[in-house]
Amino acid sequence: MSHDILIENKYKIINIINSGSYSKVFKAQHINKNIYVAIKFDYDELSKKILENEIRIYIKLLKYKIGNIVNIKSFGIIDKYNYIVMNMIPNTLERYVDDMIINSKNINNLLNQLFDIINKLHSVGIYHRDLKPDNILMNNDKIYLIDLGLSTDDPQNINKNIVGSWLFSSYKCHKKNYNYGKIDDIISIYYIFFYLLSNKKLPWNNIFIDDLNTKHQIFYNLKYNTNFYKFYEDYPELKNIIKKYNKYINYYHTQQSNQL
Ligand SMILES: Nc1ncnc2c1ncn2[C@@H]1O[C@H](COP(=O)(O)OP(=O)(O)OP(=O)(O)O)[C@@H](O)[C@H]1O
Ligand SMILES: [Mg+2]
Repeated sequence: MSHDILIENKYKIINIINSGSYSKVFKAQHINKNIYVAIKFDYDELSKKILENEIRIYIKLLKYKIGNIVNIKSFGIIDKYNYIVMNMIPNTLERYVDDMIINSKNINNLLNQLFDIINKLHSVGIYHRDLKPDNILMNNDKIYLIDLGLSTDDPQNINKNIVGSWLFSSYKCHKKNYNYGKIDDIISIYYIFFYLLSNKKLPWNNIFIDDLNTKHQIFYNLKYNTNFYKFYEDYPELKNIIKKYNKYINYYHTQQSNQL
């Protein structure tokens, strides 16, 4: 993508923000106004599919009023590349937490904001499926979700491959056949907070294994069987979050066994 082209006759590309696995994201400026946007492009067949899915989900979301998902200004195709123009969101959750005073009021505020957004998404039948620190941005103390590329509105969608990331996908995602559910997005939120409030430590973030089957098994075991109280005993501010997490998981398993 040449830096000289104007997108929609008005956005001038300033620099690349991220060259990720599924897209290239550029920062751009309106030529006449003091407005900055982020423009996300696809670049190959797979990223095209994912970006088209993302656009489809954003269109579906237009029907509902769900705040705190990044605002989409427009989308289109240029030189065969699909793109989305979004509001530029200046900060990331990770940087925000690094600079934040760590106390239960601030932590609960963030947790509640995230649960609120995710519950709203779920209530209209959409699962995010790629919740991780990189996909959560911050503006003026408010959380914004981005990256709906892997989102789905089809609960029957069984995935043989891992959804989202190894670090932040729920333990259930490491089973061979599973249905992605609300619980999996919620579990990712807990892992994200374990990570952000512990100097970026997760029990499974130093595991390097080539064989994918073995890797899934080990990740499942670590995610499912770790005693988080013990693992995070040096991080007292995580105690309450772990308590909530355990309660949530226990409740889920009780519900499951009642249904059998
Ligand atoms: N609206 C935005 N405002 C600011 N930064 C953004 C915005 N959208 C995306 N970014 C930046 O670009 C990165 C990649 O965007 P996004 O997650 O949508 O693409 P992706 O290719 O699906 O990501 P990845 O494969 O890296 O998860 C984000 O992590 C963020 O740093
Ligand atoms: Mg992303």
